[in-house]
Amino acid sequence: MSYLEIRNATKQFGAGFIALNGVSVAVERGEFFTLLGPSGCGKTTLLRSIAGFNDLTSGEIALDGSNLRIVPPHQRDIGMVFQDYAVFPHLTVFDNVAFGLKPRKVPAAEIKTRVTQALEAVRLGAMAERLPAAMSGGQQQRIGLARAMVINPRLLLMDEPLSNLDAKLRIELREEIRDIQKQVDIATIYVTHDQEEALAISDRICVMNAGRIEQVGTPQQIYGNPQTRFVAEFVGTLNVFSPGPALDGMLGQLGLTAPAGATWAVRPERLDLAARGGAPDSVAVLDGTVTKYTYLGREAQVQVETPAGLIVVQLANPGISATRSTGEAVAVLVPRDAPMAFGADGVRIGG
Ligand SMILES: Nc1ncnc2c1ncn2[C@@H]1O[C@H](COP(=O)(O)OP(=O)(O)O)[C@@H](O)[C@H]1O
Ligand SMILES: [Mg+2]
Repeated sequence: MSYLEIRNATKQFGAGFIALNGVSVAVERGEFFTLLGPSGCGKTTLLRSIAGFNDLTSGEIALDGSNLRIVPPHQRDIGMVFQDYAVFPHLTVFDNVAFGLKPRKVPAAEIKTRVTQALEAVRLGAMAERLPAAMSGGQQQRIGLARAMVINPRLLLMDEPLSNLDAKLRIELREEIRDIQKQVDIATIYVTHDQEEALAISDRICVMNAGRIEQVGTPQQIYGNPQTRFVAEFVGTLNVFSPGPALDGMLGQLGLTAPAGATWAVRPERLDLAARGGAPDSVAVLDGTVTKYTYLGREAQVQVETPAGLIVVQLANPGISATRSTGEAVAVLVPRDAPMAFGADGVRIGG
């Protein structure tokens, strides 16, 4: 049995709207588990159900083998970190963190020790007596994290904790959150709509869509072996081939087949470009014309009009010689293991 088990969770708001539709997930001890999906897919609803802020319409939640749904929220021993920091501006950093311990009747000396430890963990040890108002967003979120950890929670829940920070700080703090989580070894459920953040921070990712789970897996499994078209398009980018003789010819060259009606797609970074006629035999070739070249430093994106549709090719480390002009005739090279097929229901075929 897993540490946290959610079985068949369903949440209906009002008369009709179903925010969670039969969600089952299992989280292991010490695991960093991320809920990833677009806005409105049910991430916060699932997190709030675990915390006890809302109750499921049906389904089960078990933590460490016992039913969590019957435990009142304040007795669940769950630490929560929110997007908007939720710090008290009139309390010092120390008192903000100590706040979570007050209702627990912890002796003063122990409060001091535990708050100091939590502040050290988030590198705010020197700022205990400061007021949060004068502190940066990143520092305020560290207070939020320390306050969630100080109760020695059985679970740590974080709902888009980095969304209000600028891009550079977001990357810095996400690395730190991961390090701290591994150090304290508390099972964590982290919510984000940012695919790169999810890939960077997680042991496993659960991709959600419209109240359901699309796929659960390691970052490598989610990105490298997506099981649905939704996952492939939400995590990373995808070229979808137009059906027709050009696609059939390409699949023929590669010896690939799929049931009629399947959609074929490929990631931009799996493709390469060559001059017309210069392709090795091991790959399939789609002749096309460059319609756009975007140089991004560590990569370049080349948009090519082909008989199988508009295809983006991503070139790593593009040197001067990789530059392509609009109107240039090129060959798009497709390795045999690059194309992915999806059925009409969006489920991967032969993955
Ligand atoms: N209290 C509520 N009453 C009615 N609908 C709600 C309520 N909370 C959330 N919803 C709806 O449930 C869906 C999922 O919301 P939410 O879990 O917040 O999504 P996410 O966190 O993935 O963006 C949304 O369509 C939202 O409008
Ligand atoms: Mg949300």
